[in-house]
Amino acid sequence: MRDAYIVTSVRTPGCKRAKGALKDTRPEDLLAFILKSAMEKTENLEMKDVDDVMIGCAFPEAEQGLNIGRIVTQIAGFPVDVSGATVNRFCSSGLEAIALASLRVMAGWSDVTIGGGLESMTFVPMVGNIVRPHPEYSKKHADLYTSMGITAENVAKRYGISREEQDEFACQSNMRAAEATEKKLFTEIVPTPATKHVLGKNGTYQKETTLIEADDGFRANTTVEGLAKLRPVFAANGSVTAGNSSQMTDGAAVSIVMSEEKVKELGVTPVAKLKCYTTVGCRPDEMGVGPRYAIPKLLKLAGMDIKEIDLFEVNEAFASQALYCLRELGVDQEKANIHGGAIALGHPLGCTGAKLCATLLANMGERGVKYGVESMCIGGGMGAAALFEMCD
Ligand SMILES: CC(C)(COP(=O)(O)OP(=O)(O)OC[C@H]1O[C@@H](n2cnc3c(N)ncnc32)[C@H](O)[C@@H]1OP(=O)(O)O)[C@@H](O)C(=O)NCCC(=O)NCCS
Repeated sequence: MRDAYIVTSVRTPGCKRAKGALKDTRPEDLLAFILKSAMEKTENLEMKDVDDVMIGCAFPEAEQGLNIGRIVTQIAGFPVDVSGATVNRFCSSGLEAIALASLRVMAGWSDVTIGGGLESMTFVPMVGNIVRPHPEYSKKHADLYTSMGITAENVAKRYGISREEQDEFACQSNMRAAEATEKKLFTEIVPTPATKHVLGKNGTYQKETTLIEADDGFRANTTVEGLAKLRPVFAANGSVTAGNSSQMTDGAAVSIVMSEEKVKELGVTPVAKLKCYTTVGCRPDEMGVGPRYAIPKLLKLAGMDIKEIDLFEVNEAFASQALYCLRELGVDQEKANIHGGAIALGHPLGCTGAKLCATLLANMGERGVKYGVESMCIGGGMGAAALFEMCD
């Protein structure tokens, strides 16, 4: 198999659902913008060189529906023969899309494929506009449809993750995000035009755009004491709150994957190689444990020890599950989510896998390290994990 090189990995800021800066920006515009930005950042690459654009989306309907991967290639201005697909594995969709793009390159079936992710949780609510569980199956196995918040409560109760630990972790996530933003360490963010509808003098609304440079969900003034006052939101006597859950967020991210031949032909400087990707199933009613099983499976496939990994991005769907996974895997928190995670920065479902890839590669570059692992839990009971190796 050939190597798959990630040559560009970028994202929009992550902005709060319904309240944040991207709430009036259509998902197609968000994705088209970040696709064009990735192309512009990649030296000598032309749109006609791209074979396919694979886009992760967890709820691909309405404004981000039909086949958003195809629709956006056209909106972004790719030639008509550049194809596009939508990929769905819920919270790992963006990473799944990058892995599929990489496999195409590794197999020799493509020299340039783009993988990415998109979710506007403002335009399309989590679980979509209508839910229709299978009537007979769900009567016997309601656990397959367990709400994400309840799965987080289950992990906390079953594995003894206290409210205090969750709140400390959530506070740390916010502190790290605030500090990294202050120091301008999110170099993978491309300042993104956000739509605003402004009432004009003639009484009609005009579309205006402003440039958004940073994530807007984190709270720099978070304290453990403040978090401790929040009520549980999913279970009356529970421990999972708005403060120690991931935020609902709008965002898009893409990575351009290239073969070695194309890298040399275009004279591009590659960033990293995707070395390995895997997924695993787990109990749906405790889906948050996914990374605890996906990461060991990944490292076994790659023939590596967890101690060899320099940095981790483990999605913070909820503090309870992220803490449980890090604890069971023996991962030092100094190596994980070093600039904060989804509790502070948001979890735009289908975008998250691509967003965390861009963040991990930027962080690996900043720290000058070689190996990084990205992982997340997935609704329905799964985990996904990917191993990246930085290029010299
Ligand atoms: C938990 C959840 C329901 C909260 O939604 P929300 O009410 O819109 O959350 P908000 O961020 O607006 O926070 C609500 C309130 O909590 C408090 N709060 C939140 N974070 C806080 C913090 N860090 N410090 C202090 N207070 C905080 C504030 O009072 C806030 O109200 P305000 O914005 O008016 O100040 C929602 O974020 C959620 O469902 N998250 C999980 C999403 C999910 O399941 N994803 C998939 C995972 S697999």
